[in-house]
Amino acid sequence: MAERRLLVRDIAQLATPAGRTAPLRGALGGRLDVVEDAFVLCEDGRIAAVGPMRELGRLDAEVPELDARGLCALPGFIDCHTHPAFGGDRVEEFALRARGASYEELHAAGGGIMSTVRMTRALDAQGLRDQVERHAGWMLAHGTTRFEGKSGYGLDRETELRSLEAIRAAGGMPTWFGAHAVPPEFEDANAYLDFAIEEVLPEASAVASAADVFLERGAFDATQARRYLEACRNAGLPLRLHGDQFTEAGAISLAIELGARSVDHLEATGPDGVAMLAGSDVTGVLLPASALFLDRPMPPARALVDAGAAIALATDFNPGSAFCESLPLVMALACTRLGLGPAEALAAATVNAAHVLGEADSRGRLAPGYAADVVLLDAPDWRYVAYHLGTENLAIVVRDGDVVWRR
Ligand code: NIG
Ligand code: FE
Repeated sequence: MAERRLLVRDIAQLATPAGRTAPLRGALGGRLDVVEDAFVLCEDGRIAAVGPMRELGRLDAEVPELDARGLCALPGFIDCHTHPAFGGDRVEEFALRARGASYEELHAAGGGIMSTVRMTRALDAQGLRDQVERHAGWMLAHGTTRFEGKSGYGLDRETELRSLEAIRAAGGMPTWFGAHAVPPEFEDANAYLDFAIEEVLPEASAVASAADVFLERGAFDATQARRYLEACRNAGLPLRLHGDQFTEAGAISLAIELGARSVDHLEATGPDGVAMLAGSDVTGVLLPASALFLDRPMPPARALVDAGAAIALATDFNPGSAFCESLPLVMALACTRLGLGPAEALAAATVNAAHVLGEADSRGRLAPGYAADVVLLDAPDWRYVAYHLGTENLAIVVRDGDVVWRR
């Protein structure tokens, strides 16, 4: 018999992406199962049963209950793209940008990413762990029950490995973002990649669950990105790319060729890129909080979905381009700026995000066998998750069958 049980009962409305397959594409992304007056029975961290209260049979033992009258239940949110391993902040840069300085100019002048690298290197292992823990706590308080976290603010061996370990210790899935920027101690991108591939990859691949590259003007070009990604793939890591953020520099075709899990950003993607991605197995990860924060164009989400592409939504949480840990805000932006409906936004931040992490069989749905990760909203309709701008309605978060956060 199960050791740890929890019955979430009398839920006003429960909403979950329909079916069992992933990723959900096109019209499928808009299909939800909505159950009124529902329950979720959790056993040993997994969902044992879900359904309407009238179908809840007699339980064979005393089961702890969570009264969810007046609340709506959704699957725990999954943030498949964050950068939580950093020291310091970029509030000065934010103030400069607010008065007109551009993100790319600040980066070119040695600020931007490199200023965070300096502050991250200055932390010891415990200091970095504390930072990641703190950021993971912020995510949890916005309904995120599973997150991916990238390194990439160390760019030296010790700090990259510390970052990956800190992310794993905080319950995240670590991605080695060794090709985020070229640190100043190297003459050029190729010299840095020699070092990263020879000196860091062997240990990074033992801790990380994926690898990522910033393919962009001023970062790594397609040839360099290919070299880095091929080395990572040979070390057994699934691949991700930051691509088409400012310019179309070949990220989508490279992602398809290498069989990457995702291309993320896509603010600069035009119609050819949309068609290419839609015809592939690569998921487009959209980061509208980053476009908002940098006052950049929004990614072509509607065109991607209509063309049949698989999309996911994520925060891109980081100190420079998206100081935002809120997936509900991202879902709100998806509905107000990306032309997605609430059901599409929810699927993109749950089951499709789980797919990007290779975990769609076990997370992202309220259905038997999935992780018992449940977000409870104090709202009369589940769509308040995107409708109410902010997280005022978030009431309770259950992770692995335990109540881990309450307003
Ligand atoms: O996803 N695009 C590159 N990297 C991050 C931002 C990093 C930073 O500004 O610190 C991003 O937007
Ligand atoms: Fe990012």
